[in-house]
Amino acid sequence: MLVSAKDMLNKARDGKYAVGQFNINNLEWTKAILLTAQECNSPVILGVSEGAGKYMCGFNTVVAMTKGMIDTLGITVPVALHLDHGTYEGAKACINAGFSSIMFDGSHLPFEENFAKTTALVNTCEVLGLSLEAEVGAIGGEEDGVVGMGECADPDECKKIADLGVTMLAAGIGNIHGKYPENWPGLSFETLEKIKAKVGDMPLVLHGGTGIPDDQIKKAISLGVAKINVNTECQLVFQEATRKYIEEGKDRIGKGFDPRKLLAPGFEAIKAKVKEKMELFGSVGKA
Ligand code: 13P
Repeated sequence: MLVSAKDMLNKARDGKYAVGQFNINNLEWTKAILLTAQECNSPVILGVSEGAGKYMCGFNTVVAMTKGMIDTLGITVPVALHLDHGTYEGAKACINAGFSSIMFDGSHLPFEENFAKTTALVNTCEVLGLSLEAEVGAIGGEEDGVVGMGECADPDECKKIADLGVTMLAAGIGNIHGKYPENWPGLSFETLEKIKAKVGDMPLVLHGGTGIPDDQIKKAISLGVAKINVNTECQLVFQEATRKYIEEGKDRIGKGFDPRKLLAPGFEAIKAKVKEKMELFGSVGKA
């Protein structure tokens, strides 16, 4: 069964740990993350971007695949299936498809529009028992080869959105998606503290988990971050493991070409990475 992320995040906030959101791309990714969560007895959030949803043949397919796996693999830890950086239309499509958690990212819109659209979704999600993540202060990242530094959210805007009754809030604190550039100054804990002071109990979300040093992750958790998103790091370890398998010529030995063998090292690498993150975030044993 899929659950809302509300309880797991409130527990994480109170227990001073964070739940990982790991983005999925296909069957192998989903299976690796679900099995690791079960082995670690950890709650988990599966993140699905609109692009990944399209790649996996639509949100209905993603819901059916995930529910099927939870059932067949005997997954008993809490699992939330969460739209990552959704548009307003995407949010509605995922609600209809049966996602248990939604992110509406209106951070790039004029604040009034972000506020209005988040308000509408708060009401819908509340009625349906789904968790809702909102975003203030766009998270930077690479676009067309240019890496934009992450914005720092305005704490007053954060409070206005938090007061709408969203479940969790993603606020830019200098974090960016993908690899961090050499000259990245690190997370702005000053901004995080100001936001936390304004939003009180609201669990905060840290995007761009890939490449943030462990000590900064721990400090962010101590200051109110209860959900951390990781995507690129799983892609990188999958890539490295797959490359190694092929470079060692293993795909040419016996039935090494069988996709179940070819994808196995990458699958195991994702499992190891997710376990490492769950240990770092402190969610092991917290299901
Ligand atoms: P990374 O790809 O940098 O880990 O970021 C993931 C993320 O924040 C998804 O929303």
